[in-house]
Amino acid sequence: MDKKKQIVMSGIRPTGFLHLGNYFGAVRNYVRLQQEYSCFFMVADLHSLTTHPDTALLKQQVFRVLAENLACGIDPEQAVLYCQSHVPETAELYLLLNMLAYVGELEKTVTFKDKVRQHPDNVNAGLLTYPVLQTADIILHRAALVPVGKDQEQHLEMARNFVKRFNHRYGDVFPEPQAFNFGEELLKVPSLDGTGKMSKSENQYATLYLADNDELIQKKIMRAKTDSGPTSPGAPKPDYIVNLFQLMKLVSTPETVAQFEAAYDSCGIRYGDMKTQLAADMIRFIGPIREKAHSIQQDSDYLQKVMRNGAQKARESASQTLQLVKEAMGLTYY
Ligand code: TYM
Repeated sequence: MDKKKQIVMSGIRPTGFLHLGNYFGAVRNYVRLQQEYSCFFMVADLHSLTTHPDTALLKQQVFRVLAENLACGIDPEQAVLYCQSHVPETAELYLLLNMLAYVGELEKTVTFKDKVRQHPDNVNAGLLTYPVLQTADIILHRAALVPVGKDQEQHLEMARNFVKRFNHRYGDVFPEPQAFNFGEELLKVPSLDGTGKMSKSENQYATLYLADNDELIQKKIMRAKTDSGPTSPGAPKPDYIVNLFQLMKLVSTPETVAQFEAAYDSCGIRYGDMKTQLAADMIRFIGPIREKAHSIQQDSDYLQKVMRNGAQKARESASQTLQLVKEAMGLTYY
């Protein structure tokens, strides 16, 4: 099948700086996909409203996420790069899909339960229907492939359920969207504190941001938890050490990783050396992206142009889909 005909869609919430998890779980794949597929990448500003961000900062963060995507290699001539709220068809499709989403299943969503735990005083309906809005984003372009990290697996499963329900009730309009990582397991970039994943909102010292300066990268990595090393050959690695190796695999050469693996296996590993090496490789990786994002951010005319063009292309695709949806649902009266 001609890959150009396959449609790819994904999004990122503008709730803070992009971090290494966003890069390796999502943006790296956007860049790999943009030449051969028909791609739509979006800054999910509406989704971020579910957690009531400071609206004065939101605008700045939307531009920053846009600049960071461009700095990572998204080419706005190849992929459609846009901001969610610029495509009002998203909200229309979201409303129609809400009739097919059951409150019971929405309440069981892991991300919803997490948010209820974190913000018991802000359990709004937007949070509950978050996966419905995400489904609208995806199927608005009738996308089949969705490059995301492991944490989005359940949202994609829900998207498939909503699509199946829609197609069953109204006729085959949408492909069933799949989470995509080139046939590999979806990625989870671990945090530096040995627990969980890197994330925008949790422990800031455990997450490496694409905007971190060299000194901060070094500091965060040197603070990462280690111990005095294995005492017998073949000893299993504790989680926090597994995480360090995983991070090393992302940014260091295979030879470097092999050298530290061998040192671990022979109980000769020095974690101080490993962290120094990891910090140097991480700085080499993040530095150029940070500098590029910084300079793109200075050019607000360019960013606005990218945004405007993206919105226009996204709306063309969205309005075609909505026409099909309305025909399928019998919402065409003249
Ligand atoms: P968000 O903004 O939390 O994350 C953006 C992307 O980064 C991935 N990611 C990770 N991948 C690996 N390891 C990590 N530690 C890690 N942290 C984040 C996420 O999986 C995601 O791919 N609901 C979405 C935004 C969204 C969306 C969509 C995604 C809105 N509409 C439509 C896909 C399609 C979110 O909050 O992602």
